[in-house]
Amino acid sequence: MSFVKNINDFARAKREKTPISMVTCYDYGFARLVEKSNIDTVLVGDSLGNVVAGFDSTIPVTVDQMIYHTQIVKRGAPSKFLITDLPFMSYHVSIEDSLKNAGRIMKEGGCSALKLEGGEDFAPVVEALVRASIPVVAHLGLTPQSVHKLGGYSVQGRGEEKSSIMKKDARMLQDAGASALVLEMVPEELAGEITEMLSIPTIGIGAGRYCDGQVLVINDLLGMNEEFNPKFLKKYADLATVINGALNQYDSEVKNRKFPEERNAFSGTAGNIKNKVY
Ligand code: KIV
Repeated sequence: MSFVKNINDFARAKREKTPISMVTCYDYGFARLVEKSNIDTVLVGDSLGNVVAGFDSTIPVTVDQMIYHTQIVKRGAPSKFLITDLPFMSYHVSIEDSLKNAGRIMKEGGCSALKLEGGEDFAPVVEALVRASIPVVAHLGLTPQSVHKLGGYSVQGRGEEKSSIMKKDARMLQDAGASALVLEMVPEELAGEITEMLSIPTIGIGAGRYCDGQVLVINDLLGMNEEFNPKFLKKYADLATVINGALNQYDSEVKNRKFPEERNAFSGTAGNIKNKVY
């Protein structure tokens, strides 16, 4: 059973100290599997730029792509609370532009909340979206849309100055009306302090044990990519090995004429096969 049915359940989870589970999802097949699970919430993350499209960052992802994938996930997981990422440059130009893009993603995609990356500078955007009845999840720490500004994908908020900036940002985003805060690649002591300080839940990825919830990329937690092994990741399955084994068995059975068998074939028309190879 999912704990989160609507946006108010984020605050309820925090009050009741119930951890929130979140996974990303991008396609119908996985969405159907997530729908049948106990996972609380689903994020249509712009990480689809990396995971689905094979880009080396989330920067090329567009509003139209986020809408397309949100529609797909919504069809597969209709009962889950769906959050969609606002992609790079869709909320950076002006409040008016942000409202238009956010409105399109919600109306056309069918999600129930939007996520955006960034601190103090984006508090006015959060405020405007919330005023327009769009629930917002904020995102601090490693914010992948800023990879070029940050100089890579590394732990954020280390040291006195950086940690106090992150705490200030977190407070401002909460005050602006954010319903939850994703903390990515943050030292766990800092994530714990932010979690204690806020009345909204924190959802960690690479942010340690003290957050109010956790999020992982679905392909990562299922072990779809043998080469991706960051410290924060736990693989709950080894689908890369399972899939590779299945593909090679199929290949071998086709080549050895073991597949298809009679039970996989249709019959019923009068055939006259001259070059029967079996
Ligand atoms: O895009 C994404 O998938 C995310 C999560 C990793 C938090 O932002």
